[in-house]
Amino acid sequence: MSEEEALAAARARIEDYRSRISSLDDNSRDLLFREARNHNWWEDKDVSDAQLREIYDLVKFAPTSANTQPMRITFLRSDEAKERLKPALNGPNVEKTMKAPVVAILGYDNTFWKDFPKFYPIRPEMAERHKENSDVAQHFSFQQATLQGAYFILAVRAVGLDSGAMGGFDVAKVNEEFFKDSPVQANFLCSIGYGHLDGIKGPRLFRYGFDEVCDII
Ligand SMILES: Cc1cc2nc3c(=O)[nH]c(=O)nc-3n(C[C@H](O)[C@H](O)[C@H](O)COP(=O)(O)O)c2cc1C
Repeated sequence: MSEEEALAAARARIEDYRSRISSLDDNSRDLLFREARNHNWWEDKDVSDAQLREIYDLVKFAPTSANTQPMRITFLRSDEAKERLKPALNGPNVEKTMKAPVVAILGYDNTFWKDFPKFYPIRPEMAERHKENSDVAQHFSFQQATLQGAYFILAVRAVGLDSGAMGGFDVAKVNEEFFKDSPVQANFLCSIGYGHLDGIKGPRLFRYGFDEVCDII
């Protein structure tokens, strides 16, 4: 396919989906945002590998700066894998995490820049500033992977599952256990499953209203 044909095809895809949908309906907005809750207690119901792939196959399309996609995910399904995580969890997070069907370690790869020619072929030289300065690479990687982590939570909800995000763990311990001699570092954890209502201990907490935190200038 020539460059012109590829561009025409890309624009046709946008026209096509716009002709099919222009916004999410109320139920979809509830599923992703308004009624979805953070879960930490789980139904005894498995999550399949196919569902994990379905989640990732949505997440990968959400945008990152220069298309860098630095998030790396380690899915813990087996009891052995979860046992390796256990010593790193803060006390209140242990039981709920060990009982989750799957726990994802959402990490970020500080050597993401090596793939610039692949993921951003229009400006592969952008790799240089990351290669030359590991602080720049780390800051960028953490920022972009955190964005992807937020997309991840929404993708879990989009495929009909529940998520339980967790920052209450010892990052150094997880890095040592799972990412020793690797450029990947842990960001946050996300349990995945069918949330059990016993884990919901109260109503939705306060959210800021538009006028409290937004300015239009
Ligand atoms: C990145 C992140 C880290 C979190 N860490 C924890 C945690 O360590 N332990 C916990 O019980 N909840 C944790 N939460 C859950 C939040 O406390 C919860 O999403 C928030 O209170 C809003 O609750 P709601 O989503 O049910 O409205 C975390 C959420 C996110 C997004």
